[in-house]
Amino acid sequence: MKIIMLGAPGAGKGTQAKKIAAKYNIPHISTGDIFRANIKNGTELGNKAKTYMDQGLLVPDELVVDLVVDRVKQDDCANGYVLDGFPRTIPQAEALDKALAVIGEKMDYAIDVDVPDENIVHRMSGRRACVGCGATYHLEYAPTKVEGICDTCGKELILRDDDKPETVKKRLGVYHEQTQPLIDYYTNAGILKTVDGTVDINDVFQTIVNILGE
Ligand code: AP5
Ligand code: MG
Repeated sequence: MKIIMLGAPGAGKGTQAKKIAAKYNIPHISTGDIFRANIKNGTELGNKAKTYMDQGLLVPDELVVDLVVDRVKQDDCANGYVLDGFPRTIPQAEALDKALAVIGEKMDYAIDVDVPDENIVHRMSGRRACVGCGATYHLEYAPTKVEGICDTCGKELILRDDDKPETVKKRLGVYHEQTQPLIDYYTNAGILKTVDGTVDINDVFQTIVNILGE
């Protein structure tokens, strides 16, 4: 099962992708997480990506496409995978389709987690990310057991630099301009499924399971 998660920043792509990966036992591939790990480790890719991410802009396609195409060819992706944050532009989607066609494969589902802009800024200001393992929480909607401390690894939680309201607004603009056209792209491909992302996290997941099957 090969799945793409679509949706605005903060729609809940990562939250749902992790649950899908656990239930169906497939890898969760998040380009945002890959870039953040590279930034943390001070790699050349990380340094390049950071200048764009801090401004709420997309990292250029040429820094993203090969990375993902190489990743999905690894052995653990043989039974499928869930892509979170990729593709994000039409050229990225075309490059993915082309690379898959060469090996006789294609994506099965593009799940659009639909949340209106009005909800996004509030949601993002409450998100907290672990400095250690990158797990994400929400002050109101997905709180940790002990305030400010990661449930998984015990490290401290922070507000991501790009989750500050001004940068979130910029990211939303970039989403509408560059990523939203993918809704039509995957509608035309016949694999788009839209789910309401404004309801409770577990209810969003149940809708997704109804689409993917038990
Ligand atoms: P990325 O990390 O992908 O950021 P994003 O798309 O902006 O999405 P987020 O991770 O912020 O949100 P999400 O939808 O995963 O929401 P989450 O589940 O955390 O990318 C970061 C940057 O990297 C980009 O801006 C770009 O610069 C670069 N980049 C990455 N990929 C790229 C690519 N392919 N091309 C070019 N550049 C790229 O949920 C958000 C919050 O809401 C959480 O606190 C969560 O607990 C809470 N929540 C989730 N669901 C619900 C719910 N149903 N109800 C209430 N709260 C909820
Ligand atoms: Mg995410």
